[in-house]
Amino acid sequence: MNIRPAKVTDVKEIHNLVEYYANNKKMLHRSLSAIYENIQEFVVLENENKIIGCGALHVSWEDLAEVKALAVAEQFKRQGFGKKIVEILQENAKKLEINRVFALSFTPEFFIKLGYTVVSREMLPHKIWNECVNCHLFPDCGEVPLIVSI
Ligand SMILES: CC(C)(COP(=O)(O)OP(=O)(O)OC[C@H]1O[C@@H](n2cnc3c(N)ncnc32)[C@H](O)[C@@H]1OP(=O)(O)O)[C@@H](O)C(=O)NCCC(=O)NCCS
Repeated sequence: MNIRPAKVTDVKEIHNLVEYYANNKKMLHRSLSAIYENIQEFVVLENENKIIGCGALHVSWEDLAEVKALAVAEQFKRQGFGKKIVEILQENAKKLEINRVFALSFTPEFFIKLGYTVVSREMLPHKIWNECVNCHLFPDCGEVPLIVSI
């Protein structure tokens, strides 16, 4: 098992993983194009040359970044890998001198276990909701905003 920065050659596997959960309404769809364009934000969890997990850190503002596109393949869930991916993304945020990280999640219980607190949408900068406004699920997607100080 190895968590490392993603490469463009990982994009199709990342996309397959995200699509699996998006089709099960556990996360939002993400196009191949969106993953290629943001590949430098991604880390991947690799096992025997296969991508079995992923996550991304997107900088929103001088003191705020978002954990996005977090997924661990079904057969590898509940073994601490999701937590490890988030910890690495948070370390990446710290290296950028960002001290708050948030997530919009359909699985708030996982983030609460990691020390995140549920907040109201209004606590997050308006620019974050610009992406939401353009989503077909807006305004009732059911994603819960959570935030942590790191
Ligand atoms: C959410 C997800 C990334 C968690 O990954 P994981 O590798 O299974 O999580 P971990 O094993 O690292 O769990 C860390 C802690 O959270 C808990 N946890 C994990 N998933 C949970 C869930 N669905 N509900 C409640 N607690 C959960 C674990 O029990 C563990 O707690 P512990 O430290 O007390 O043992 C994974 O379930 C997943 O890919 N889900 C589908 C996509 C998704 O929901 N992404 C979230 C962002 S939109």
